[in-house]
Amino acid sequence: MSDRPSKITRLSTELANQIAAGEVVERPASVVKELVENAIDAGARRIAVAVELGGKRLIRVEDDGEGMTAEEAALALERHATSKIRRLEDLAAISTLGFRGEALPSIASVSNLLLRTRPRGADRGVEIRVSAGVTTAPREVGASEGTTIEVIDLFCNVPARRKFLKSDGAETTQISRLMTQLALGYPEVGFTLASGSRRLLQCPSATELDERLFQLYKSRDHLVEVQKTAAGVSVRGFAAGLAGQGHGPVRGPQNLFVNGRAVKDRTIAHAITHAYSAATIKERSPEVHLFFELPPDRVDVNVHPAKAEVRFLEPSLVHEVLRRALGDALADSPAPEVALEAAPTRAPGPPAEAAPGPWTQ
Ligand SMILES: Nc1ncnc2c1ncn2[C@@H]1O[C@H](COP(=O)(O)OP(=O)(O)OP(=O)(O)O)[C@@H](O)[C@H]1O
Ligand SMILES: [Mg+2]
Repeated sequence: MSDRPSKITRLSTELANQIAAGEVVERPASVVKELVENAIDAGARRIAVAVELGGKRLIRVEDDGEGMTAEEAALALERHATSKIRRLEDLAAISTLGFRGEALPSIASVSNLLLRTRPRGADRGVEIRVSAGVTTAPREVGASEGTTIEVIDLFCNVPARRKFLKSDGAETTQISRLMTQLALGYPEVGFTLASGSRRLLQCPSATELDERLFQLYKSRDHLVEVQKTAAGVSVRGFAAGLAGQGHGPVRGPQNLFVNGRAVKDRTIAHAITHAYSAATIKERSPEVHLFFELPPDRVDVNVHPAKAEVRFLEPSLVHEVLRRALGDALADSPAPEVALEAAPTRAPGPPAEAAPGPWTQ
């Protein structure tokens, strides 16, 4: 037996949170994403976001969702505390955007955070502050129904992270892009984004996806409707058509949602490229806004630290449904000069399975 002191010690909660924050919170836009997704999960109909200095000085997200009691608000700031799952099996039936119970404690560990909330139907709200890792006891305050979270001086205690941030303008652009994407995913929710005194986005609650598309992007004449359901996988949305586009489809943003979650996905990207290359000779990044719905047990959402990717149980099925959906939509778009059959009928071959990222085992 050696009497050497143990080389292993337990990290303090604060340090553990800061390390977790390294994965969850890369930049101001990641904070906005987590807070807005929480507001969506809370059933908000209206979400107002304000930032200052690219979100480095201030990020405020205000919602009119279900709010939290004093007890819930205190728990929400603790690591691994969530109202969204209770058992591992719940992940296979997940319908919320959050599930880890990590976002709020991670954000609070690298900023000064203020949480003010009032549950629907309650006559008072509570406020909690976290500063330099110290959390105050909930204090009763007057507040409107819903939740407001302010994140002040992000990365004030992590100079290494702060150094890697881009200019205020560039960080604001990222936030603006992210908000545009979230707003597209949830047309029924009203969104606003302000940077200082500038209003960057204003989308009143809409009834249809194409109304929201118009609010966000104005012209959408070049888009054709996409709609297909097969073998339990449904895809709907809009994609750049071929009509009158002498130079191929209009390039633009590629917004992809799987069960309401904005994702990047190689299977989907491959199917898009394939569908368009069958119809035009130009290799481009066509504008698409596509919404996939499939049973939650056929998609694993727990594969990426920022929840920005998912893994399909049957990637080749998703590939095929999308390829056909786009094929039909593009064939319907009145572009008689483009003969779909004229393209080489090379078998698509299922896309290579996404290589495991560094975070997967
Ligand atoms: N805006 C909000 N309105 C109402 N409840 C909220 C709000 N934000 C957070 N909560 C509550 O606090 C809990 C913790 O939030 P947090 O974002 O840390 O974790 P999560 O959303 O459960 O999971 P994830 O880490 O994947 O985001 C949530 O499960 C929810 O119950
Ligand atoms: Mg969350």
